Amino acid sequence: MVKSTGYKKVKAAVFISGTGSNLKSLIKFSKKKNSPISIDLIISNNPKAKGLKLGKVNKIKKKVFNFKNKNKIENQILSVLKHHKIKMICLAGFMKILSRNFIAKFKGKILNIHPSLLPKYKGLNTHQRVLDNNEKYSGCTVHFVNSKLDSGKIILQKKVKISKNETRDSLAKKVIIQEHKLYPKAILKTFNL
Ligand code: GRF
Repeated sequence: MVKSTGYKKVKAAVFISGTGSNLKSLIKFSKKKNSPISIDLIISNNPKAKGLKLGKVNKIKKKVFNFKNKNKIENQILSVLKHHKIKMICLAGFMKILSRNFIAKFKGKILNIHPSLLPKYKGLNTHQRVLDNNEKYSGCTVHFVNSKLDSGKIILQKKVKISKNETRDSLAKKVIIQEHKLYPKAILKTFNL
């Protein structure tokens, strides 16, 4: 894909495991003129991931990998990425942890979105833990991926206020709306745009 200004968009792959609502927002963003990336590949570890359907609708290639043998699979993924000339990876609800070796091959080029104000609440079940601790605020974070879970350099964060009768579901809804806005902004930031 070529921008009207004449330079090429960087080819990106999005890794998902489930719903793919962030994938949807990234696809929408990638089609805009001011997007520095195009999304050329969707990768999932889960053949039932709802988000895979977005591949067909948007004519984006998708590949499913069974992560039983992680080393082997990661090598296969690396060759697929190479074949498609992918230069950037966006993790969006991807439930597998990538190895140090894999991350090294895409150093500084893998981003992730997490539904908390990192470094607080790394890992799973964030919204419930936030509520259990009576936090006043939660939010979401886009960060670079390093070999430690949810620990790479933070690119951008967005805070949300927790209401009086907040539930896990209401908080999740509030946060994900912000995620959809934050991820594109964070990508622009990584390109200094
Ligand atoms: C998001 O909350 C994201 O922050 C987390 O997993 C969820 C994925 O949602 N890593 P979706 O598949 O993008 O709808």
